[in-house]
Amino acid sequence: MHEFRYVGNELWCERLAVRPLARRFGTPLFVYSRRTLEDHYKKLAGALAPLDHRICYAVKANANAAVLRVLAGLGSGFDIVSEGELRRVIAAGGKAGDCVFAGVGKTEGEIEGALREGIYAFHVESEPELVRIDRVAARLRRTASVAVRVNPDVDARTHRKITTGTYEAKFGIPFEEVAAVYARASRLKHVRLRGLQMHIGSQLTDTRPFEEAVRKVAPLVMVLAGRHGLEYFSIGGGLGIVYQPALASGSAAWWRSRRARGLLTPARYADRLVPLLKPLRLRILVEPGRFICGNAGVLVTRVEYVKRTGTKRFVIVDAAMNDLVRPAFYDAYHEIVPLTRRRGARVVCDVVGPICESGDYFARDRRLPAVREGDHLALLSAGAYGSVMSSNYNSRPLAAEVMVHGNRAALVRAREPLEAMWARESIPSWR
Ligand code: LLP
Repeated sequence: MHEFRYVGNELWCERLAVRPLARRFGTPLFVYSRRTLEDHYKKLAGALAPLDHRICYAVKANANAAVLRVLAGLGSGFDIVSEGELRRVIAAGGKAGDCVFAGVGKTEGEIEGALREGIYAFHVESEPELVRIDRVAARLRRTASVAVRVNPDVDARTHRKITTGTYEAKFGIPFEEVAAVYARASRLKHVRLRGLQMHIGSQLTDTRPFEEAVRKVAPLVMVLAGRHGLEYFSIGGGLGIVYQPALASGSAAWWRSRRARGLLTPARYADRLVPLLKPLRLRILVEPGRFICGNAGVLVTRVEYVKRTGTKRFVIVDAAMNDLVRPAFYDAYHEIVPLTRRRGARVVCDVVGPICESGDYFARDRRLPAVREGDHLALLSAGAYGSVMSSNYNSRPLAAEVMVHGNRAALVRAREPLEAMWARESIPSWR
């Protein structure tokens, strides 16, 4: 569920109409609902309550400081993948001690920084990384807490580019090798084996791959916990959200409908996994990103032109693939709705951005209400992997971001000033 819905003919977020926000803050504009973030966190925490569990929000999904602050306030931990994310969490009021650090390419500098800050654990992706962590910890005279990421070779049955738990992927250590790696790691003096981790992929809409992976890995966890005194098992993130129909899925009634039956919900996820995880008697970590923030944000854009060619009708908007790359990158579907509904026929169109690439589109051959120049549209489910994946391509400044809380709205990231894009560049003085 989420907090975007029509009140009369106007799209609202919580208790505010969105269109005045577009006027006040300009477009392209990300609008986040604080209440939706809180609701999603609490639903998952509630479903997992039978377990000694910890939610470590995956910062990569939406790293805005205001988002991190909301989650820190709810008691969330954080799954980070870079020094930048660690510094962000701390700057937003989160604690390093609540962070787990994933990623295949941690540099010495990042490991040192994370050790000095005292993170909860490194999620180790290879043996050379383990050796490196031990060496850096020795130099700093500290002990590094680690969990090895196991690659269970289970297909998450999601998009190829976001499948991470098969042997085609660069992630983790193959299932068969993990026990031997723990045995060798237990001899490292500056490493403490604290857990085991896995993450099989993102945007899973079926619980079965999760179950398959947990069933496969749980016996190994049991053995390793006995041998090495592990404290936790992280089952990663990956809970999918509803992109279609995104607006309708905001209501409780929709979730009770037939269409929603069989879809992944926190309750279903917990029903299937808690019985498998409870007997481990370990702390269970989950690392959701998209589930928390995906449907908590929209990208608001203004229609610049409606262009008709012999075969097509293009709605050209002021947002582009540099603001939301998911359609271009994954052929992802984002529902598009007008901020103000008008009566009238629907027309088939392509919604495209101004960037000089054919891949710069948000929708192809989509039936949408007819729009004209100056109208505003909202691209739904843009709260996760939206602004964080944006770029300055075509020298377009990063969009502004606003958070809504009840009937209040606050600018949580100012639109990037044009000059900021080249402020760190310099022209050599040579001739
Ligand atoms: N844990 C680890 C180790 C991860 O690599 C990820 C995501 C997560 C947790 C959170 O996954 P989530 O709960 O959000 O599915 N840019 C892509 C998604 C990339 C996911 C990368 N890893 C997209 O826009 O679909």
